[in-house]
Amino acid sequence: MPGGFDKIGVFVAGGPAAGINAVIKGIVQEADNAGVRVMGFLNGAKGLVDGRFVHLTRERVEDVHILGGSIIGTSRYRIDDRGEDLARICGHLQREGIDGLISIGGEGTLQLADRLRQTGLRVVHVPKTIDNDIAGVEQSFGYDTAVHEAARMLTAIKLDAEASGHWFVVEIMGRYAGHLALEAGLAAGCTRVLIPEEGSIDVGELAELVRTRAASGLNWGVVLVAESAHFGDGHLTRYGRLGGISDALAERLERACAESSPVAVRTSNLGYFLRCAEPTGFDRSYAAKLGQGATRFILDPERTGHMVTVEGDTFRAVPMEEVAGKVKLVDLDGVRYRALQAAAAYESARADLDAQQRTWEAAPHSIGWLDRNTSMETLSSVAMRLGVGTDDLLKVLEDLSDAATGSAGPALACPTPRNS
Ligand code: F6P
Repeated sequence: MPGGFDKIGVFVAGGPAAGINAVIKGIVQEADNAGVRVMGFLNGAKGLVDGRFVHLTRERVEDVHILGGSIIGTSRYRIDDRGEDLARICGHLQREGIDGLISIGGEGTLQLADRLRQTGLRVVHVPKTIDNDIAGVEQSFGYDTAVHEAARMLTAIKLDAEASGHWFVVEIMGRYAGHLALEAGLAAGCTRVLIPEEGSIDVGELAELVRTRAASGLNWGVVLVAESAHFGDGHLTRYGRLGGISDALAERLERACAESSPVAVRTSNLGYFLRCAEPTGFDRSYAAKLGQGATRFILDPERTGHMVTVEGDTFRAVPMEEVAGKVKLVDLDGVRYRALQAAAAYESARADLDAQQRTWEAAPHSIGWLDRNTSMETLSSVAMRLGVGTDDLLKVLEDLSDAATGSAGPALACPTPRNS
């Protein structure tokens, strides 16, 4: 028995995330190899307080790595720090001869784990959440599956929007961070993604996007909004949790578009479809490694009391006290957010260009809609469509500007195409 260990306990707390069962299997595998038994406490910290657990044998965890959900349940039960909860937990562990505890959870559970560590217990934490907002870890397990599932559903919504000519505002979880919205939105190619880190939602800018797209013949779009995105006056909540921003935004957008380009905005919420989906291959194997790492850490006096992460090809031990209570947000100077900005700029420019080209198609012998402010890209694109040189087109525009009288004159004639 390594370090005198006979049994270790494991519990899961917070919202579910794909890969929990793979972590549990990883823990059992590594513990079994070391001759240590694993007890699974049921329904989160509540099971710890009540002393309710099951023996997690090899047979019990066979093939569970492919399943969403949690074979030992989970809960958001908050232990009463000043009451008897802590004493009851310590009592159960002592009585059962459980020498260490592995917690699987998000940022809230990490704080609980840290609290348990401070009582002198040997605790190791495994970072779990679809929100990917845990400080000190590049990626929590469950995030990959959530991005994958969300991208799949958003792609279907996007096709629906395109086929039926609808605007959608789709809400997605993520707590106070926009990681999930960002990656899922990029993966699906949403028209616009709104994350809390950007500050208040600019409804006017969205209405302008609806208008330019309508002008270019694109009467549809998909806006993905993170559940904690806001209008500058606090977060919206439902059932005491974040939620409701998609309906509120749809309403405001409809109002903002009422005059320029009336639109009936549909809403959808990916909410609870993402947490218990079948884990992706990445999450299955990543979660198993985390479970194995957590078991090694708990058996190692140097590394117990830490959160386990995998970096490259090695385990990294992150001191709990360094990260407990901290939330990782999207870095607005980072590569990920840059990708989102690039996609948004592309969508706007594309709608703009399409709108201008349609204007030309509607009035093929007029270039009166062009002026000195028209971008070079648009000018060369129009010139190409007309079969004339960009320089020729520019010259005509300069002449137009010189001759401008301030009143709307007749449409300009098109320069002679080069190949005529
Ligand atoms: O697990 C984290 C999370 O999914 C958040 O994204 C979301 O705000 C919250 O859980 C919802 O939790 P509940 O299950 O309590 O409704």
